[in-house]
Amino acid sequence: MHRRLIAPSVLTASLVLAIPASAATFSPGAPGIGDAYYPASGNGGYDVSHYDLRLKYQPKIDLLEGTATILATATQDLSRFNLDFGLGVSEVRVNGAKAKFIKEGDQELVVTPASPLAKGKAVSVVVRYAGKPSELSIGGYTAWHRTPDGGVAAQEPDSAVWWFPSNDHPLDKATYDVSVSVPDGTQAISNGVLQLQSSKLGWTRYNWRSNKPQASYLATLAVGKFDITTDKTADGLPVLNAYSQDLGDQAGAARASIERTTEVAEYLTEVFGPYPFNALGGYVPNVKSGYALETQTRPFYSPRQFANGSNVSVVVHELAHQWYGDSVSVKGWKDIWINEGFARYSQWLWSEKEGEGTAQELADYVYRTRAADDAFWTVKPGDPGPDKQFDIAVYDRGALTVQALRNEVGDEDFFKILKGWTAKFAYGNADVGDFVQYAESVSGKPLAGLFDTWLYEPSKPGAPAAAESRIARSDAGAKPAQPKSWKKIAATNTIHEHEHGHDH
Ligand code: TRP
Ligand code: ZN
Repeated sequence: MHRRLIAPSVLTASLVLAIPASAATFSPGAPGIGDAYYPASGNGGYDVSHYDLRLKYQPKIDLLEGTATILATATQDLSRFNLDFGLGVSEVRVNGAKAKFIKEGDQELVVTPASPLAKGKAVSVVVRYAGKPSELSIGGYTAWHRTPDGGVAAQEPDSAVWWFPSNDHPLDKATYDVSVSVPDGTQAISNGVLQLQSSKLGWTRYNWRSNKPQASYLATLAVGKFDITTDKTADGLPVLNAYSQDLGDQAGAARASIERTTEVAEYLTEVFGPYPFNALGGYVPNVKSGYALETQTRPFYSPRQFANGSNVSVVVHELAHQWYGDSVSVKGWKDIWINEGFARYSQWLWSEKEGEGTAQELADYVYRTRAADDAFWTVKPGDPGPDKQFDIAVYDRGALTVQALRNEVGDEDFFKILKGWTAKFAYGNADVGDFVQYAESVSGKPLAGLFDTWLYEPSKPGAPAAAESRIARSDAGAKPAQPKSWKKIAATNTIHEHEHGHDH
């Protein structure tokens, strides 16, 4: 990310002498963190450790006002830096002193501190702001869902721009304190533990704390009228679920699914290792969209996920992401297979455990129902491109890849890999190459060929040996039987297929 204003070679000796030694080395932080798919995402030059958001939201007029305090460290000698943000800013202070700022485009806030920041220096940035999140649309894409009684920020690959200034990329994770004041009778839901709820003069303030590193797209805010259930896990972690009071017919099915969060997390703990965060739960706001999202500690579920009855499978998917995606995060968005391939595979494992179809049966079903000329096989799960980042192939072929790995290394090493990976990279970032390397090191087998075929070939891989023998045993020509769990698993994402995708 380091950029020089003037290449050193063009400076004459006398010019160098004329400039104070330090001034020549301070340079602006890059306006993007270097993501291959989204060049404007994130920023260079600093690293955030903590966000403190003190907000107030008025549902009737969709007005969000507040102050963000960002604690960071300069990672280069910094003359100015960017934050990603879309709402109106009235003041910026850096280390207490008023800073100059300008908005560039829809989502870049360019901040010039009164004095430059030395590499390694602790930096505090205070941003005062106000705006109507629903008025912000970037390239036809909005992360803010207005609801009849409030609003919700939940989107991937980014949502922070709609509600707080940030270094908006999974590479820069931080802890969060989110405090939101809303009219009495309305609730504000966010990530982590509800530390405090207090009421004064008609306003109720909710203080939330997410105390483990969290990617900006996994921070969420939901304001509205919710019914809240609370509990504790056997290990003493607080569980808090929130259901819009407006779910109508879907309320029962939503609760019957999400109230099983603790049970699902217990199962996933057996497979992936210790649950990585300080709280659990889920929330269902009254939104029209169809998808679910793995917002940290407290996934977001659209009511439509429960339109045809309860769906524990989607809960399994979003909770699996707490390990695969949230604790271990992508280095760049092209690594999305590590999130979606494994979250989908966890649904296959749950199905296997429930006796509703083994992972192998689900793999065979995908493999045999997708003909060789299906465009499905042209998507490379290991590098799908921004337009196909959430294509069904990233999920289903992504999970086929995981099954191919399981068959190659055997169950013992396979489950060792699933668990060891989440321990080795806990709270950090990793890419597809890291996974391949890790799987090779655990199994002692060369796996580059297998992953090349399943992740990077833009065509249908030849039938894996295991599948071939099964197909030969049964009737190769017959349509495979649909595993009992198939429809619920598929519902997790076919619903949102038309809703995502945007360019920065
Ligand atoms: N990561 C989400 C899931 O599979 C799905 C998703 C993809 C999504 N794109 C999105 C959710 C956009 C919300 C918005 O669980
Ligand atoms: Zn997912």
